[in-house]
Amino acid sequence: MSVTTVTTVAASARISVEPSANLTPLVDTSRFPDGSPGEVRAAHRLYEHLIGMWAPGVIEAAQDLGAFAALTEGPATAAGLAETLGTDLRATRVLLDGLSAYDIVERTRGTDGQAVYTLPTVLHGVFAPDGIFSLAGKIGHDRNVAWHAWRHLAGNVRDGARSTEGEQRLNQISEEDYTSLVRGINFWAPPIVRSLAEELRGQGWTSGAGRKLLDVGCGTGIYSHLLLGEFPELEAAGLDAERIIPIADRQAADLGVAGRFHGRTGDFWNDDWGTGSDLALFVNIFHLQTPESARDLMLKASKSVSDDGVIAIADHIVDEDGGEGTTQNRFFRLFAASMLATGGGDAFSVQDYDQWLSDAGLRRVALLDTPMHRVLLARHA
Ligand SMILES: C[S@@+](CC[C@H](N)C(=O)[O-])C[C@H]1O[C@@H](n2cnc3c(N)ncnc32)[C@H](O)[C@@H]1O
Repeated sequence: MSVTTVTTVAASARISVEPSANLTPLVDTSRFPDGSPGEVRAAHRLYEHLIGMWAPGVIEAAQDLGAFAALTEGPATAAGLAETLGTDLRATRVLLDGLSAYDIVERTRGTDGQAVYTLPTVLHGVFAPDGIFSLAGKIGHDRNVAWHAWRHLAGNVRDGARSTEGEQRLNQISEEDYTSLVRGINFWAPPIVRSLAEELRGQGWTSGAGRKLLDVGCGTGIYSHLLLGEFPELEAAGLDAERIIPIADRQAADLGVAGRFHGRTGDFWNDDWGTGSDLALFVNIFHLQTPESARDLMLKASKSVSDDGVIAIADHIVDEDGGEGTTQNRFFRLFAASMLATGGGDAFSVQDYDQWLSDAGLRRVALLDTPMHRVLLARHA
């Protein structure tokens, strides 16, 4: 690749890998003259929200053009990158400056005074199409589904995202859209699996020979694959649609657990899940449901696990007692809006889950906080 690289520029350590509160603010609130009306200050703050779409705008454009792939090869000037990508020089500089405003690329001055742009090493895998924790699938999904969907939020609020018969709808994107999305949300798995594994050990749940995990709607199977790493004697079955299971099987091989991961093509509504699982796992499945379908899912879950089995649900679970303004609750409520925009689903509360558990003869035994999810563990009552 003929990227103009400037090797004197070290890979940046400036990129924030800490929570988003550390991202560079875009409004300099110290510049308000004394006595600025509250309404004017508020308009500045809200404007900052309204331009939230600029972030995916510049990130997606850069990904589309191959800019991140090129910058993974090394730092570049706008001229060098424009030559590599076959793009307009001035417009390429505008795009790179936009990325630097979000601290995605670092902008420094080379010895000849030209700006030099560096993609920090920590972000190389994040934009790589096949990176295990890559956001490329999420970016692709947002381009194909989310931009269009958000335009319909008001309409869905008006009619409740109901079918023509007046029924609440599940969130059902196409299998093809899932092939992109599921590969873009693997990054959620490591902290969830770590917390879940620790809690399972703490509860005396051991894997032991012949212990079985059922991963319902497994996607890439990342949760199964990481749990198989945590519990060397466990065997996992991942249930998902025809287009998705080959992705999970490939990833199991890549992660060295193919011998203990068994991908099963099927429809989790109409197919039999079997019985006697020691752990039934549902990650990012309940937020796709209506209250009625969630209750049905819990009943099926209850029948599928052994007497001392555990049901683990990792999802955007609102905990009213956990504090109204917690970061998780705020994120979950916005997640619910994104579900509604794309056609249905919700971020249900702990109380909702407790009711469905009780209806299914189950009881909650743990609720764990992770960065963007809560993990609920349940057993037979
Ligand atoms: C949001 S993704 C979650 C994937 C994975 N559990 C994760 O968290 O990474 C939902 C998954 O459920 C699968 N799914 C949805 N409806 C299904 C059904 N009726 N039968 C089998 N799989 C289904 C989708 O194909 C998709 O892989």
